[in-house]
Amino acid sequence: MKVFVTRKIPNAGIDMLREKGWEVLISPHDRALTRDELIDMGRGADAVLTQLTDKIDGSVVDGWGSQLKIIANYAVGYDNLNVKEISDRGVLMSNTPDVLTETVAEHTFALMLSIARRIVESDKFSRAGKYKGWEPFLLLGNDVCYKTLGIIGLGRIGARVAHHAVRGFDMKVIYYDVRRNNEFESNFGATYKDTPDDILTEADFISIHVPLLPQTRHLISAERIKKMKPSAYLINTSRGPIVDEIALRDSLKKNIIKGAAIDVWENEPLLTPGLSDLENIIITPHTASATEETRQKMGEIAAKNIIETLEGRNPPNKIIPK
Ligand code: GLV
Ligand code: GLV
Repeated sequence: MKVFVTRKIPNAGIDMLREKGWEVLISPHDRALTRDELIDMGRGADAVLTQLTDKIDGSVVDGWGSQLKIIANYAVGYDNLNVKEISDRGVLMSNTPDVLTETVAEHTFALMLSIARRIVESDKFSRAGKYKGWEPFLLLGNDVCYKTLGIIGLGRIGARVAHHAVRGFDMKVIYYDVRRNNEFESNFGATYKDTPDDILTEADFISIHVPLLPQTRHLISAERIKKMKPSAYLINTSRGPIVDEIALRDSLKKNIIKGAAIDVWENEPLLTPGLSDLENIIITPHTASATEETRQKMGEIAAKNIIETLEGRNPPNKIIPK
């Protein structure tokens, strides 16, 4: 068997594949591959371990050859995979849920606390030697505790963010999802809202946890941002294109909302011009799952999905085409 890994990942997962005695080809370039490079290096592979920066459609799969059995995406999100075209070719796909839930939820909370308490601004201020002694009005932020957190998209990550909010900060949680979750509601005293708009008008902090789909692109539009309270903060650790980034920039500039913190950008790695000049936004470079522990586990899960498939069993994290 031949496995192609499109970019170096932590060793644990690679070792699992090598221990099978399979040929494991890892891209020698420490960067995202071009489409032609992807096709060339993966030709003849039985399994390909992809990154979220690899755009895989039917024609890439055709280039790899009909022996291909699985594409194991090194991410929980899989909007980089054309699920229909890949499954039409009889190729399985898997992602890495669960192992990164806590890490992404932690990053979401770190962003929420950091924007509310102006941590990044305060750090820059301190390093610049601007602190001249205690002041009553120096760098005032807002409390997080007892506020209302609005979650849009209640999957594993959204639910874990709610856990921190309720158990750690006594926040009130409201949520919107295409499906209602009664168990979640009773566990966390959470309230279901029928539309995303109901979340936007009521919440003090809004955290987005939906997958990127045609129907979630620009879910947070200029009109929707206008519905938020002027005191509200928007947090996005899902996928950049869910928020209209130009609208976000303009709204922050005009103080239509109080602040935002984003880990994902609409056009990574390019940031909407002007966004980085604003003090009321914190920007991290798609690092919400980036801990040593979690990246290792993601590699192990991706490897496990490949192993199960190539040995003729069901991969545990199979992506089900809708
Ligand atoms: C990261 O964005 C992921 O989907 O795992
Ligand atoms: C991601 O796995 C989620 O369900 O939130």
